[in-house]
Amino acid sequence: MRKINVGIIGFGTIGAGVVKVLQSKRAFLREKSGIDVVVTRVCDKDLKTKRPVRVDKKILTKSIAKVLYDPKIDVVVELVGGVYPAKDIVLEGLRQGKHVVTANKALLSDSGREIFDLANALGLCVGFEASVGGGIPIIRALKEGFIANRLDLIYGIINGTSNFILSKMADEGLSFEKALAIAQEMGYAERDPHLDISGGDSAHKLSVLALLGFGVTAKARDIYTEGIEDIEASDIRYAKESGYAIKLLAIAKRAAGQLELRVHPTLIPASHLVSNVNGVYNAIFVKGDLVGENLFYGQGAGVLPTSSAVVSDIIAVAKNCAGGCKSEKCVPFIRDVQRLKQMDDIKTRYYIRFSAVDKPGVLAKISGILAKYRISIASVTQKPRKSANVVPIVMMTHEALERDMAKAIKEIDSLKIMKRKSVRVRIEA
Ligand SMILES: NC(=O)c1ccc[n+]([C@@H]2O[C@H](COP(=O)([O-])OP(=O)(O)OC[C@H]3O[C@@H](n4cnc5c(N)ncnc54)[C@H](OP(=O)(O)O)[C@@H]3O)[C@@H](O)[C@H]2O)c1
Repeated sequence: MRKINVGIIGFGTIGAGVVKVLQSKRAFLREKSGIDVVVTRVCDKDLKTKRPVRVDKKILTKSIAKVLYDPKIDVVVELVGGVYPAKDIVLEGLRQGKHVVTANKALLSDSGREIFDLANALGLCVGFEASVGGGIPIIRALKEGFIANRLDLIYGIINGTSNFILSKMADEGLSFEKALAIAQEMGYAERDPHLDISGGDSAHKLSVLALLGFGVTAKARDIYTEGIEDIEASDIRYAKESGYAIKLLAIAKRAAGQLELRVHPTLIPASHLVSNVNGVYNAIFVKGDLVGENLFYGQGAGVLPTSSAVVSDIIAVAKNCAGGCKSEKCVPFIRDVQRLKQMDDIKTRYYIRFSAVDKPGVLAKISGILAKYRISIASVTQKPRKSANVVPIVMMTHEALERDMAKAIKEIDSLKIMKRKSVRVRIEA
């Protein structure tokens, strides 16, 4: 029986969940995997707060050093979150010859390449299954299951909070603000929900997927990111009337040797499986040259799914390193695209909602400007008036260049006949 000593840094929501699973399922895991996982140290800066699991006081510490420099510890599990001091914990853990497990997408988005390069150079493992998609084993699928594939496309719903809000708006016709308040009441959104609703969290996760899938190092700031704050219940309703759902998608798409990386609300056909992923659930779609199309679905966050992923990493690390052998290349990636595609050069179809005064000639003015920028209209509907004298005009366009669309919308929004900023949502087939 191989025994593995684990030191956990960060005894918060997930840290406590992981300790609980390792304690309550110790015998189960031992029998199933042949590995005895022993929680040797638990570190947190706050040892007073009551946790949902009891641990022997002797293993609790406030000192990160007591984990990193303890020669008995084989695996350091970083669960403090954020970039600092998490980055120092992970790098120093590796330098001390320990394998590392982390759930920290913010850290991996910022410094993943540096961390993986160091781990690969030292022949050590970094497990990060919980950083994307919570309990969904997408990282393992990309690292191992799909290793023989050249990937063409990875996209998905990878932020449960935004998906919960959009689902509530779709199902109950609620405003964004009301749906967000319900998400906060139910514990699905933080008191400060900015990172989730702005698309920032999805961008962190997309940079992890871009590195594994395409070998591209892109920090969140390199990824075009738009959140869901401007989407109104009426947009969801109008999209539905045209046979679409609106979802916050994170997209990594190969296009003629370049890689598109973007996060934004997206219209997807109602018949697509991803359209039917609702509530806090996540779904990740992967297309490879050998496996074709695959869809992963499951809980993208929460204590139990995330702990499941962290524990699976601990067991995987222990198995890879059985007998003390050095790992080969723990995080496999090769760069197989030339560069990131500029957002301006991306071509998609668009849904646009204009809010204009109710006067003859308005439509002609709007379509004239669109034509000037080579944007052709696929359909146009004038919706019932929303408020006195303001009428929503909803258009679907054929494929157009992002650069042209941005210029056209700017020009249209500067017209006196426009009463509010236009809302534009990209369409993916
Ligand atoms: N929650 C989820 O559903 C979920 C899902 C997937 C991934 N993750 C990731 O998992 C990680 C942990 O998330 P969480 O929700 O468990 O966060 P959390 O509840 O805030 O837990 C973090 C813990 O680390 C402690 N800590 C912070 N800095 C420390 C330091 N310098 N030394 C020792 N302890 C320190 C915190 O103490 P204080 O509270 O006193 O600051 C807190 O107890 C994050 O990277 C997150 O992105 C979370």
